[in-house]
Amino acid sequence: MIRMRRKILWASCFCFAAAFFLVLTLQVITELGNSENKVSVISSLHSSPLKPGERHAFQFKKQELHSSFKTESDVNHYPVLLWWSPLTGETGRFSQCGEDVCFFTINKTYQHNQMTRAFLFYGTDFSIDSLPLPRKDYHDWALFHEESPKNNYKLIHEATITLFNHTATFSRHSHLPLTTQYLEGVEVLKSLKFMIPLQMKNSLRKRLAPLVYVQSDCNPPSDRDSYVRELMCHIEVDSYGECLHNSDLPQHLRNPAAMDDGNFLKILAQYKFILAFENAICEDYITEKLWRPLKLGVVPVYFGSPSIVDWLPSNKSAILVSSFSHPRDLARYIKTLDTNDEEYESYLQWKLKGDISNPRLLRTMKERKWGVQDITQDNYIDTFECMVCNRVWENIRRKEKVCLPQTRGILVLIVKPWLDLSPKDVDTKL
Ligand SMILES: *[C@@H]1O[C@H](CO)[C@@H](O)[C@H](O)[C@H]1NC(C)=O
Ligand SMILES: *[C@@H]1O[C@H](CO)[C@@H](O)[C@H](O)[C@H]1NC(C)=O
Ligand SMILES: *[C@@H]1O[C@H](CO)[C@@H](O)[C@H](O)[C@H]1NC(C)=O
Repeated sequence: MIRMRRKILWASCFCFAAAFFLVLTLQVITELGNSENKVSVISSLHSSPLKPGERHAFQFKKQELHSSFKTESDVNHYPVLLWWSPLTGETGRFSQCGEDVCFFTINKTYQHNQMTRAFLFYGTDFSIDSLPLPRKDYHDWALFHEESPKNNYKLIHEATITLFNHTATFSRHSHLPLTTQYLEGVEVLKSLKFMIPLQMKNSLRKRLAPLVYVQSDCNPPSDRDSYVRELMCHIEVDSYGECLHNSDLPQHLRNPAAMDDGNFLKILAQYKFILAFENAICEDYITEKLWRPLKLGVVPVYFGSPSIVDWLPSNKSAILVSSFSHPRDLARYIKTLDTNDEEYESYLQWKLKGDISNPRLLRTMKERKWGVQDITQDNYIDTFECMVCNRVWENIRRKEKVCLPQTRGILVLIVKPWLDLSPKDVDTKL
Protein backbone atom coordinates (compact mmCIF):
# COMPACT_ATOMS: atom_id res chain seq x y z
CA MET A 1 0.00 0.00 0.00
CA ILE A 2 2.79 2.36 1.00
CA ARG A 3 4.70 1.40 -2.07
CA MET A 4 1.60 2.13 -4.16
CA ARG A 5 1.20 5.59 -2.59
CA ARG A 6 4.82 6.35 -3.19
CA LYS A 7 4.33 5.40 -6.82
CA ILE A 8 1.35 7.74 -7.12
CA LEU A 9 3.33 10.49 -5.44
CA TRP A 10 6.19 10.01 -7.90
CA ALA A 11 3.79 9.94 -10.80
CA SER A 12 2.09 13.17 -9.79
CA CYS A 13 5.43 14.83 -9.16
CA PHE A 14 6.46 13.81 -12.64
CA CYS A 15 3.20 15.04 -14.11
CA PHE A 16 3.52 18.34 -12.32
CA ALA A 17 7.08 18.79 -13.48
CA ALA A 18 6.11 17.91 -17.04
CA ALA A 19 3.18 20.33 -16.98
CA PHE A 20 5.41 23.06 -15.57
CA PHE A 21 7.93 22.49 -18.30
CA LEU A 22 5.23 22.51 -20.95
CA VAL A 23 3.87 25.85 -19.73
CA LEU A 24 7.37 27.28 -19.58
CA THR A 25 8.11 26.09 -23.10
CA LEU A 26 4.83 27.47 -24.45
CA GLN A 27 5.53 30.82 -22.88
CA VAL A 28 9.00 30.89 -24.33
CA ILE A 29 7.66 30.02 -27.78
CA THR A 30 5.10 32.83 -27.52
CA GLU A 31 7.81 35.24 -26.43
CA LEU A 32 9.93 34.08 -29.31
CA GLY A 33 7.09 34.65 -31.72
CA ASN A 34 6.70 38.18 -30.41
CA SER A 35 10.32 39.13 -30.79
CA GLU A 36 10.44 37.43 -34.18
CA ASN A 37 7.50 39.50 -35.31
CA LYS A 38 9.13 42.63 -34.02
CA VAL A 39 12.28 41.93 -35.98
CA SER A 40 10.44 41.03 -39.17
CA VAL A 41 8.16 44.06 -38.88
CA ILE A 42 11.21 46.25 -38.57
CA SER A 43 12.89 44.73 -41.59
CA SER A 44 9.74 44.70 -43.70
CA LEU A 45 9.42 48.43 -43.14
CA HIS A 46 12.66 48.87 -45.05
CA SER A 47 12.68 45.98 -47.44
CA SER A 48 13.01 47.93 -50.68
CA PRO A 49 16.69 48.07 -51.66
CA LEU A 50 18.08 51.51 -52.31
CA LYS A 51 20.38 52.83 -54.97
CA PRO A 52 23.28 54.94 -53.67
CA GLY A 53 21.75 58.15 -54.99
CA GLU A 54 18.60 57.53 -52.96
CA ARG A 55 20.39 57.40 -49.66
CA HIS A 56 19.50 60.96 -48.86
CA ALA A 57 15.84 60.39 -49.66
CA PHE A 58 15.92 57.27 -47.51
CA GLN A 59 17.29 59.18 -44.54
CA PHE A 60 14.49 61.63 -44.93
CA LYS A 61 11.87 58.92 -45.24
CA LYS A 62 13.33 57.09 -42.33
CA GLN A 63 13.01 60.14 -40.12
CA GLU A 64 9.46 60.64 -41.27
CA LEU A 65 8.65 57.05 -40.54
CA HIS A 66 9.75 57.39 -36.97
CA SER A 67 8.82 61.00 -36.43
CA SER A 68 6.85 59.98 -33.35
CA PHE A 69 9.99 58.47 -31.79
CA LYS A 70 13.12 60.16 -30.57
CA THR A 71 16.27 59.46 -32.52
CA GLU A 72 17.59 57.63 -29.47
CA SER A 73 14.75 55.09 -29.58
CA ASP A 74 15.21 54.61 -33.33
CA VAL A 75 18.78 53.65 -32.68
CA ASN A 76 17.51 51.14 -30.15
CA HIS A 77 16.06 49.03 -32.94
CA TYR A 78 19.15 48.56 -35.07
CA PRO A 79 22.71 47.37 -34.62
CA VAL A 80 25.03 50.36 -34.13
CA LEU A 81 28.29 50.21 -36.10
CA LEU A 82 30.81 52.68 -34.72
CA TRP A 83 33.68 53.98 -36.86
CA TRP A 84 36.53 54.16 -34.34
CA SER A 85 38.59 56.05 -36.95
CA PRO A 86 36.41 58.99 -38.03
CA LEU A 87 36.82 58.11 -41.72
CA THR A 88 33.34 59.03 -42.92
CA GLY A 89 32.89 62.08 -40.70
CA GLU A 90 29.22 61.16 -40.29
CA THR A 91 27.80 61.64 -36.79
CA GLY A 92 24.88 59.30 -37.40
CA ARG A 93 23.18 57.67 -40.37
CA PHE A 94 20.89 54.72 -40.97
CA SER A 95 21.88 52.64 -43.98
CA GLN A 96 19.89 50.11 -45.89
CA CYS A 97 22.09 47.17 -46.86
CA GLY A 98 19.92 44.80 -48.88
CA GLU A 99 17.35 43.59 -46.37
CA ASP A 100 19.31 44.85 -43.38
CA VAL A 101 19.42 48.23 -41.69
CA CYS A 102 22.30 49.44 -39.51
CA PHE A 103 23.15 52.70 -37.80
CA PHE A 104 26.62 54.08 -38.66
CA THR A 105 28.31 56.76 -36.61
CA ILE A 106 31.69 58.20 -35.65
CA ASN A 107 30.24 59.44 -32.34
CA LYS A 108 32.32 57.70 -29.67
CA THR A 109 29.67 58.11 -26.99
CA TYR A 110 28.12 55.00 -28.61
CA GLN A 111 31.01 52.90 -27.33
CA HIS A 112 28.92 51.98 -24.30
CA ASN A 113 25.57 51.79 -26.05
CA GLN A 114 23.91 48.36 -25.68
CA MET A 115 23.11 48.29 -29.41
CA THR A 116 26.71 48.72 -30.52
CA ARG A 117 27.66 45.52 -32.30
CA ALA A 118 30.77 46.49 -34.28
CA PHE A 119 33.73 48.87 -34.24
CA LEU A 120 35.15 49.84 -37.62
CA PHE A 121 38.85 50.69 -37.93
CA TYR A 122 40.77 52.40 -40.73
CA GLY A 123 44.05 50.47 -41.02
CA THR A 124 46.37 53.44 -41.42
CA ASP A 125 45.08 54.95 -38.15
CA PHE A 126 44.89 51.72 -36.18
CA SER A 127 46.70 52.29 -32.92
CA ILE A 128 47.16 49.91 -30.01
CA ASP A 129 47.10 52.90 -27.66
CA SER A 130 43.50 53.85 -28.25
CA LEU A 131 41.20 50.89 -28.55
CA PRO A 132 37.57 50.49 -27.47
CA LEU A 133 38.31 48.37 -24.42
CA PRO A 134 37.10 46.38 -22.60
CA ARG A 135 35.78 44.42 -25.55
CA LYS A 136 32.39 42.75 -24.96
CA ASP A 137 31.84 39.34 -26.52
CA TYR A 138 29.23 40.87 -28.85
CA HIS A 139 31.66 43.61 -30.02
CA ASP A 140 32.84 42.69 -33.51
CA TRP A 141 35.89 44.49 -34.84
CA ALA A 142 36.16 45.31 -38.53
CA LEU A 143 39.26 46.43 -40.43
CA PHE A 144 39.30 48.57 -43.57
CA HIS A 145 42.85 48.80 -44.87
CA GLU A 146 43.43 50.11 -48.39
CA GLU A 147 47.18 50.62 -48.15
CA SER A 148 49.77 47.86 -48.18
CA PRO A 149 50.11 46.04 -44.82
CA LYS A 150 53.59 47.56 -44.51
CA ASN A 151 52.04 50.98 -44.27
CA ASN A 152 51.13 50.07 -40.69
CA TYR A 153 53.59 47.50 -39.37
CA LYS A 154 51.30 46.32 -36.57
CA LEU A 155 48.95 44.87 -39.17
CA ILE A 156 51.50 42.42 -40.55
CA HIS A 157 51.32 40.35 -37.40
CA GLU A 158 48.97 37.41 -37.50
CA ALA A 159 47.96 38.11 -33.90
CA THR A 160 46.73 41.58 -34.85
CA ILE A 161 44.75 40.41 -37.87
CA THR A 162 42.93 37.78 -35.81
CA LEU A 163 41.52 40.57 -33.62
CA PHE A 164 39.17 41.38 -36.49
CA ASN A 165 35.94 39.58 -37.34
CA HIS A 166 35.45 41.36 -40.67
CA THR A 167 38.20 42.58 -43.02
CA ALA A 168 38.59 44.56 -46.22
CA THR A 169 42.24 44.59 -47.33
CA PHE A 170 44.35 43.94 -50.42
CA SER A 171 44.41 40.23 -49.59
CA ARG A 172 42.17 37.93 -51.60
CA HIS A 173 41.52 36.15 -48.31
CA SER A 174 39.82 39.10 -46.67
CA HIS A 175 36.02 39.26 -46.51
CA LEU A 176 35.96 42.14 -48.97
CA PRO A 177 39.16 41.93 -51.06
CA LEU A 178 40.39 45.29 -52.39
CA THR A 179 43.00 43.69 -54.68
CA THR A 180 41.60 45.42 -57.77
CA GLN A 181 40.95 48.81 -56.13
CA TYR A 182 43.03 50.61 -58.79
CA LEU A 183 41.36 48.95 -61.76
CA GLU A 184 38.22 50.60 -63.16
CA GLY A 185 37.17 47.58 -65.22
CA VAL A 186 38.32 45.04 -67.81
CA GLU A 187 37.26 47.37 -70.62
CA VAL A 188 40.00 49.88 -69.78
CA LEU A 189 42.55 47.08 -70.03
CA LYS A 190 41.32 46.09 -73.47
CA SER A 191 41.02 49.69 -74.70
CA LEU A 192 43.38 50.70 -77.49
CA LYS A 193 42.82 54.42 -76.84
CA PHE A 194 46.41 55.23 -75.86
CA MET A 195 48.19 52.47 -77.71
CA ILE A 196 50.92 53.53 -80.11
CA PRO A 197 51.75 51.23 -83.07
CA LEU A 198 55.07 49.46 -82.79
CA GLN A 199 56.46 51.09 -85.96
CA MET A 200 56.00 54.49 -84.36
CA LYS A 201 57.55 53.33 -81.08
CA ASN A 202 60.54 52.08 -83.05
CA SER A 203 61.09 55.45 -84.65
CA LEU A 204 60.56 57.23 -81.31
CA ARG A 205 63.38 55.09 -79.91
CA LYS A 206 65.81 57.45 -81.69
CA ARG A 207 65.20 60.01 -78.95
CA LEU A 208 63.66 57.91 -76.15
CA ALA A 209 65.07 55.15 -73.96
CA PRO A 210 63.41 51.73 -74.19
CA LEU A 211 62.39 52.00 -70.52
CA VAL A 212 60.65 54.70 -68.53
CA TYR A 213 60.53 55.19 -64.76
CA VAL A 214 58.39 57.73 -62.88
CA GLN A 215 58.65 57.72 -59.13
CA SER A 216 58.66 60.46 -56.52
CA ASP A 217 58.56 58.42 -53.31
CA CYS A 218 62.24 57.48 -53.25
CA ASN A 219 62.60 55.60 -49.98
CA PRO A 220 59.76 53.06 -49.67
CA PRO A 221 59.99 49.67 -47.90
CA SER A 222 60.63 47.87 -51.21
CA ASP A 223 63.86 49.87 -51.78
CA ARG A 224 63.07 49.86 -55.50
CA ASP A 225 65.55 52.63 -56.37
CA SER A 226 68.57 50.46 -55.50
CA TYR A 227 67.47 47.96 -58.12
CA VAL A 228 66.69 50.61 -60.74
CA ARG A 229 70.04 52.35 -60.09
CA GLU A 230 71.84 49.09 -60.87
CA LEU A 231 69.61 48.42 -63.88
CA MET A 232 70.54 51.85 -65.26
CA CYS A 233 74.15 50.71 -65.47
CA HIS A 234 73.10 48.11 -68.05
CA ILE A 235 70.30 49.74 -70.03
CA GLU A 236 69.06 53.24 -70.73
CA VAL A 237 66.11 54.41 -68.59
CA ASP A 238 64.28 57.75 -68.86
CA SER A 239 63.39 58.78 -65.31
CA TYR A 240 60.94 61.69 -65.03
CA GLY A 241 60.14 61.61 -61.30
CA GLU A 242 62.19 62.88 -58.39
CA CYS A 243 63.82 59.51 -57.90
CA LEU A 244 66.91 58.94 -60.09
CA HIS A 245 65.68 61.88 -62.15
CA ASN A 246 67.34 62.30 -65.57
CA SER A 247 64.59 63.54 -67.92
CA ASP A 248 62.24 66.51 -67.71
CA LEU A 249 58.52 66.58 -68.32
CA PRO A 250 56.91 69.67 -69.85
CA GLN A 251 56.39 72.31 -67.13
CA HIS A 252 52.61 71.84 -66.80
CA LEU A 253 52.96 68.10 -66.10
CA ARG A 254 55.50 68.40 -63.31
CA ASN A 255 53.16 68.15 -60.31
CA PRO A 256 52.01 64.82 -58.85
CA ALA A 257 48.37 65.67 -59.70
CA ALA A 258 49.29 65.37 -63.39
CA MET A 259 49.83 61.61 -63.08
CA ASP A 260 46.37 60.98 -64.53
CA ASP A 261 46.57 63.79 -67.08
CA GLY A 262 45.96 62.53 -70.61
CA ASN A 263 49.06 64.33 -71.92
CA PHE A 264 51.24 62.63 -69.34
CA LEU A 265 49.76 59.24 -70.25
CA LYS A 266 50.50 59.97 -73.93
CA ILE A 267 54.15 60.52 -73.07
CA LEU A 268 54.34 57.20 -71.21
CA ALA A 269 52.52 55.39 -74.03
CA GLN A 270 55.40 56.21 -76.41
CA TYR A 271 57.70 53.84 -74.53
CA LYS A 272 58.11 50.13 -75.07
CA PHE A 273 58.53 49.27 -71.37
CA ILE A 274 57.53 50.84 -68.07
CA LEU A 275 59.20 50.02 -64.78
CA ALA A 276 56.23 49.13 -62.59
CA PHE A 277 57.73 48.87 -59.11
CA GLU A 278 55.44 48.73 -56.08
CA ASN A 279 56.40 50.57 -52.91
CA ALA A 280 55.96 47.39 -50.86
CA ILE A 281 56.24 43.69 -51.61
CA CYS A 282 53.09 42.04 -50.29
CA GLU A 283 50.88 39.21 -51.40
CA ASP A 284 48.02 40.61 -53.59
CA TYR A 285 49.17 44.21 -53.10
CA ILE A 286 48.78 45.57 -56.64
CA THR A 287 48.37 49.22 -57.56
CA GLU A 288 48.02 51.45 -60.60
CA LYS A 289 51.76 50.84 -61.15
CA LEU A 290 50.75 47.60 -62.85
CA TRP A 291 47.41 48.57 -64.40
CA ARG A 292 48.61 51.84 -65.96
CA PRO A 293 51.09 50.30 -68.45
CA LEU A 294 48.61 47.55 -69.29
CA LYS A 295 45.98 50.20 -70.06
CA LEU A 296 48.43 52.20 -72.19
CA GLY A 297 49.67 49.25 -74.24
CA VAL A 298 53.18 49.40 -72.78
CA VAL A 299 54.83 46.27 -71.40
CA PRO A 300 55.19 46.46 -67.59
CA VAL A 301 58.45 45.35 -66.04
CA TYR A 302 56.92 44.39 -62.72
CA PHE A 303 58.36 44.21 -59.22
CA GLY A 304 55.87 43.72 -56.37
CA SER A 305 53.28 41.18 -55.32
CA PRO A 306 54.74 37.63 -55.34
CA SER A 307 51.32 36.36 -56.48
CA ILE A 308 51.15 38.70 -59.48
CA VAL A 309 50.65 35.92 -62.06
CA ASP A 310 47.27 35.25 -60.45
CA TRP A 311 46.12 38.72 -61.50
CA LEU A 312 47.70 39.39 -64.92
CA PRO A 313 45.31 39.57 -67.89
CA SER A 314 47.23 36.79 -69.62
CA ASN A 315 50.33 34.69 -69.05
CA LYS A 316 52.33 36.86 -71.43
CA SER A 317 51.47 40.41 -70.48
CA ALA A 318 54.30 41.49 -68.17
CA ILE A 319 57.99 40.90 -67.56
CA LEU A 320 58.59 39.88 -63.97
CA VAL A 321 61.73 41.18 -62.28
CA SER A 322 61.61 38.09 -60.04
CA SER A 323 62.40 35.86 -63.06
CA PHE A 324 65.90 37.35 -63.30
CA SER A 325 68.71 36.77 -60.85
CA HIS A 326 70.46 40.08 -61.60
CA PRO A 327 69.47 43.46 -63.10
CA ARG A 328 72.09 42.79 -65.77
CA ASP A 329 70.13 39.73 -67.01
CA LEU A 330 66.89 41.69 -67.03
CA ALA A 331 68.58 44.44 -69.10
CA ARG A 332 69.87 41.86 -71.59
CA TYR A 333 66.39 40.36 -72.02
CA ILE A 334 64.77 43.75 -72.57
CA LYS A 335 67.40 44.55 -75.20
CA THR A 336 66.56 41.38 -77.15
CA LEU A 337 62.86 42.27 -77.12
CA ASP A 338 63.72 45.81 -78.18
CA THR A 339 65.34 44.52 -81.35
CA ASN A 340 62.86 41.74 -82.11
CA ASP A 341 59.42 43.10 -83.04
CA GLU A 342 57.69 39.74 -83.05
CA GLU A 343 58.95 38.83 -79.59
CA TYR A 344 58.06 42.26 -78.23
CA GLU A 345 54.54 42.16 -79.64
CA SER A 346 53.90 38.74 -78.15
CA TYR A 347 53.55 40.63 -74.84
CA LEU A 348 50.77 42.76 -76.34
CA GLN A 349 48.84 40.06 -78.21
CA TRP A 350 46.25 39.77 -75.41
CA LYS A 351 45.48 43.48 -75.84
CA LEU A 352 45.53 43.57 -79.62
CA LYS A 353 43.10 40.64 -79.63
CA GLY A 354 41.06 41.99 -76.69
CA ASP A 355 41.53 38.62 -75.05
CA ILE A 356 41.80 38.51 -71.27
CA SER A 357 42.36 34.86 -70.43
CA ASN A 358 42.71 35.02 -66.66
CA PRO A 359 39.53 33.55 -65.18
CA ARG A 360 40.28 34.85 -61.68
CA LEU A 361 40.63 38.44 -62.89
CA LEU A 362 37.48 38.19 -65.02
CA ARG A 363 35.46 36.64 -62.20
CA THR A 364 36.69 39.15 -59.62
CA MET A 365 35.79 42.09 -61.82
CA LYS A 366 32.39 40.63 -62.67
CA GLU A 367 31.45 39.92 -59.06
CA ARG A 368 32.85 43.14 -57.63
CA LYS A 369 30.06 45.11 -55.96
CA TRP A 370 31.88 48.46 -55.96
CA GLY A 371 33.25 50.77 -58.60
CA VAL A 372 36.45 52.79 -59.08
CA GLN A 373 35.91 56.43 -60.03
CA ASP A 374 32.39 55.52 -61.09
CA ILE A 375 29.50 57.52 -59.67
CA THR A 376 26.95 54.97 -60.91
CA GLN A 377 28.27 52.38 -58.45
CA ASP A 378 28.83 52.21 -54.69
CA ASN A 379 32.36 53.01 -53.63
CA TYR A 380 34.33 50.51 -51.56
CA ILE A 381 33.71 52.28 -48.25
CA ASP A 382 29.92 52.00 -48.69
CA THR A 383 30.40 48.38 -49.67
CA PHE A 384 32.60 47.73 -46.64
CA GLU A 385 30.01 49.25 -44.29
CA CYS A 386 27.27 47.10 -45.77
CA MET A 387 29.43 43.98 -45.70
CA VAL A 388 29.87 44.46 -41.94
CA CYS A 389 26.17 45.29 -41.47
CA ASN A 390 25.11 42.12 -43.32
CA ARG A 391 27.57 39.94 -41.41
CA VAL A 392 26.49 41.38 -38.07
CA TRP A 393 22.87 40.65 -38.99
CA GLU A 394 23.84 37.15 -40.18
CA ASN A 395 25.19 36.47 -36.72
CA ILE A 396 22.03 37.79 -35.10
CA ARG A 397 19.91 35.56 -37.33
CA ARG A 398 22.19 32.55 -36.86
CA LYS A 399 21.73 32.79 -33.10
CA GLU A 400 17.98 33.00 -33.67
CA LYS A 401 17.98 29.91 -35.90
CA VAL A 402 20.12 27.72 -33.67
CA CYS A 403 17.62 28.10 -30.89
CA LEU A 404 14.22 28.13 -32.59
CA PRO A 405 13.72 24.35 -32.98
CA GLN A 406 14.70 23.74 -29.36
CA THR A 407 11.88 23.13 -26.93
CA ARG A 408 14.03 23.30 -23.84
CA GLY A 409 13.31 26.62 -22.18
CA ILE A 410 16.68 27.27 -20.61
CA LEU A 411 18.66 27.47 -23.83
CA VAL A 412 16.16 29.75 -25.49
CA LEU A 413 16.05 32.08 -22.53
CA ILE A 414 19.81 32.53 -22.59
CA VAL A 415 19.82 33.91 -26.11
CA LYS A 416 16.77 36.07 -25.72
CA PRO A 417 18.75 39.34 -25.49
CA TRP A 418 19.88 38.76 -29.07
CA LEU A 419 16.36 38.31 -30.35
CA ASP A 420 14.62 41.13 -28.62
CA LEU A 421 16.71 44.13 -29.51
CA SER A 422 15.21 46.41 -26.91
CA PRO A 423 17.71 47.59 -24.32
CA LYS A 424 15.80 46.50 -21.21
CA ASP A 425 16.86 42.87 -21.71
CA VAL A 426 20.48 43.56 -22.42
CA ASP A 427 23.08 43.80 -19.73
CA THR A 428 22.89 47.41 -18.67
CA LYS A 429 25.82 47.37 -16.26
CA LEU A 430 28.08 49.08 -18.80
C1 LIG B 1 26.85 61.92 -29.78
O1 LIG B 1 25.77 61.14 -29.33
C2 LIG B 1 25.19 61.62 -28.14
C3 LIG B 1 24.10 60.64 -27.75
O2 LIG B 1 24.56 59.35 -27.71
C4 LIG B 1 24.63 63.02 -28.35
O3 LIG B 1 24.12 63.52 -27.14
C5 LIG B 1 25.75 63.93 -28.87
O4 LIG B 1 25.21 65.19 -29.19
C6 LIG B 1 26.39 63.30 -30.10
N1 LIG B 1 27.51 64.12 -30.54
C7 LIG B 1 27.62 64.57 -31.79
C8 LIG B 1 28.86 65.38 -32.09
O5 LIG B 1 26.80 64.32 -32.65
C1 LIG C 1 35.29 38.19 -33.10
O1 LIG C 1 36.67 38.03 -32.93
C2 LIG C 1 37.06 37.86 -31.58
C3 LIG C 1 38.57 37.86 -31.54
O2 LIG C 1 39.13 36.95 -32.42
C4 LIG C 1 36.44 36.57 -31.05
O3 LIG C 1 36.81 36.38 -29.70
C5 LIG C 1 34.93 36.64 -31.20
O4 LIG C 1 34.34 35.42 -30.82
C6 LIG C 1 34.53 36.96 -32.62
N1 LIG C 1 33.10 37.19 -32.69
C7 LIG C 1 32.29 36.52 -33.50
C8 LIG C 1 30.84 36.90 -33.46
O5 LIG C 1 32.69 35.64 -34.24
C1 LIG D 1 48.78 30.47 -67.63
O1 LIG D 1 49.19 29.16 -67.97
C2 LIG D 1 48.75 28.15 -67.11
C3 LIG D 1 49.39 26.83 -67.54
O2 LIG D 1 49.64 26.81 -68.89
C4 LIG D 1 47.23 28.10 -67.13
O3 LIG D 1 46.77 27.11 -66.25
C5 LIG D 1 46.71 29.45 -66.70
O4 LIG D 1 45.30 29.47 -66.75
C6 LIG D 1 47.26 30.54 -67.59
N1 LIG D 1 46.89 31.82 -67.05
C7 LIG D 1 46.37 32.79 -67.78
C8 LIG D 1 46.12 34.07 -67.09
O5 LIG D 1 46.10 32.66 -68.95
